[in-house]
Amino acid sequence: MAKSEYIVSLIKSHFNEEQERFTTMALQIAASEAKMGHIAYAEEIKTIIDKSKERKSKNKSFSKDLQGLLIEKNPFGHLSDLIVPNNIIDKINRIISEFVQRDKLHKHDLENRRKILLSGPPGTGKTLTASIIANELGLPLYTILMDKMVTKFMGETSAKLRAVFDLIEQNRGVFLFDEFDAIGGERSRDNDVGEMRRVLNSFLQFIERDNSESLIIAVTNNQKLLDTALFRRFDDVILFRLPTNEEKLALLKNLLSRYSKKINFTKLLPRINGLSHAEITLACLDAIKDIILSENKEMDNSLILKTIKDRNAAYHK
Ligand SMILES: Nc1ncnc2c1ncn2[C@@H]1O[C@H](COP(=O)(O)OP(=O)(O)OP(=O)(O)O)[C@@H](O)[C@H]1O
Ligand SMILES: [Mg+2]
Repeated sequence: MAKSEYIVSLIKSHFNEEQERFTTMALQIAASEAKMGHIAYAEEIKTIIDKSKERKSKNKSFSKDLQGLLIEKNPFGHLSDLIVPNNIIDKINRIISEFVQRDKLHKHDLENRRKILLSGPPGTGKTLTASIIANELGLPLYTILMDKMVTKFMGETSAKLRAVFDLIEQNRGVFLFDEFDAIGGERSRDNDVGEMRRVLNSFLQFIERDNSESLIIAVTNNQKLLDTALFRRFDDVILFRLPTNEEKLALLKNLLSRYSKKINFTKLLPRINGLSHAEITLACLDAIKDIILSENKEMDNSLILKTIKDRNAAYHK
């Protein structure tokens, strides 16, 4: 088959959802590229196919009860990307180090810290931290979709939670209960205010009983939930906060230094008062995109101030 025919078949099989055919066509394209001496292309196509097979086989191992309740995400990021106070870095290092040396601890009847609560304002690095821990430890990262957990009947919710905790036991990984306190939000509007507490209590009981080798990371930005009863269930609690001036500078430098030597970072500080790490990051990425896409723009204070202003205007409409 000529190359263009392969591509037509490939597109057709994609839209007809013929997965097998799609893979066969892709492999044929790889073979024909290899024949033409384009070995690197051929290898790249094969690697993509292999990786997608690996992912699928992992997803297939989820039982039927779990489908739609959690997703596996590729972890990314390194500790050096995270701009937080040193005490938070120390805590994360300790989680990693205790996990790596857990056998040593077990010999002394001690457990590595595995149940972690992250709390703090939006956009300060909580979800990123879970991803970094999984990435640094080479563990798969599963995010539990808490809103899918809640059903009308407590018995069913418990069954779903049990299925998730069974997986936590069978499949070593980082399990992220992101914004776990959001559960029942919809329902409380229907005057079912007890729902959230009920599910939350059940969730905490499962956490308490868990004896697996997985890391469980629960995230909340609801200050009201942070009572000692909640803390007690976790081996460690990490409180995130908005960046200090020093942290803002470090973040700006991390993101922008390689694009320009002209930026006066200190001058930018008053303009990013009250912004979170995520908001600052997004404004910087806007500026980076601008200079990539437009040849006559330069990375300097005025460009960054503009992207910050645009973002601010969008938030405070
Ligand atoms: N402390 C940080 N250091 C470096 N980058 C950060 C930090 N916090 C946030 N970011 C940037 O912002 C993005 C979004 O942050 P993240 O999703 O971790 O925030 P979050 O605390 O989980 O917020 P939310 O409560 O809204 O879920 C990150 O992927 C990263 O690019
Ligand atoms: Mg988050």
